[in-house]
Amino acid sequence: METVPIANTNTTTGERTHEVEVPTFGLGVYLMQEPGECKSSVLHALEKGYRLIDTAMAYGNEHEVGEAIRESGIAREELFVVTKLRQPHANSHEETLERCQQSLENLGLDYMDLYLVHAPPKDPSARPFVWQGMEECLSSGWTRSVGVSNYGAHHLDAMVSYSTVMPSVNQIEISPWLQRPALRAAIAGIGAVPMAYSPLARGHKVEDPLLGRIAESIGCTPAQAAIKWCVDAGAITIPKSSNPARIEENLGSLQVDLSGTEVDFASLEGSYVSGWDPTSEP
Ligand SMILES: NC(=O)c1ccc[n+]([C@@H]2O[C@H](COP(=O)([O-])OP(=O)(O)OC[C@H]3O[C@@H](n4cnc5c(N)ncnc54)[C@H](OP(=O)(O)O)[C@@H]3O)[C@@H](O)[C@H]2O)c1
Repeated sequence: METVPIANTNTTTGERTHEVEVPTFGLGVYLMQEPGECKSSVLHALEKGYRLIDTAMAYGNEHEVGEAIRESGIAREELFVVTKLRQPHANSHEETLERCQQSLENLGLDYMDLYLVHAPPKDPSARPFVWQGMEECLSSGWTRSVGVSNYGAHHLDAMVSYSTVMPSVNQIEISPWLQRPALRAAIAGIGAVPMAYSPLARGHKVEDPLLGRIAESIGCTPAQAAIKWCVDAGAITIPKSSNPARIEENLGSLQVDLSGTEVDFASLEGSYVSGWDPTSEP
């Protein structure tokens, strides 16, 4: 599995700190709500070669991710585990530390690889304190890296005034139907890497006729073409599937060559948001 280095850049000196390697592709586990669904999906994915798992306290399945990791027998250092501080829990420095510890307990892990603020805290005055809590999670070794999710360019800009290190990752919705070149450039501008969630627009767009034609022309499935577009755009990409065959199909996207499809992919752009979009919150 290919990896990409991420780092938390020192806000004052620009020095890259806490550099870690992240697989460019992984499994998202949102809406795996039936008991055992998340565990069996993660186990299947790990068996087939996935090494990055993206969960969140909000998904209610961190414990199943942990169980699958233990049952897989794969060495902890070969895996990359991402979880997130819920937006309703993102209120203070203290609560950030408490929730990080709770996530570690749920996962049954000593450390996570990447801890994200799930979305900009609702109260803008809480944002500096929450981020200082994230920085303490990093310096305490509870996580190897810290980042954000659903931050717009204005949220990232504001962080310069209150952070010691900038986020290593901004996890946002990116898909061929929501390409976000300006926000991706803003993320690169702070030394961070985008992580693409909902690369299939939550499954809403897998039947898109143009995507179907692109896929047919290069000999892959529509989902594989959409996922590979996100990877090629430089985003760590985390499609969700609880279906064993689709878990394998999605991994197969990494073998797909999209050469010659650039113009067609450009015409899929439609500012299509499949779920929520806190990047535009104040
Ligand atoms: N930070 C955030 O705010 C945020 C928000 C949303 C998502 N995420 C993360 O990103 C991950 C992925 O996003 P997502 O779950 O919203 O959407 P997604 O990955 O774009 O799409 C998932 C949907 O597509 C279906 N699907 C998967 N592979 C398929 C294939 N090969 N062919 C046809 N259909 C397929 C899945 O059904 P089956 O399961 O039945 O295959 C599911 O209904 C989440 O699981 C979560 O980890 C983060």
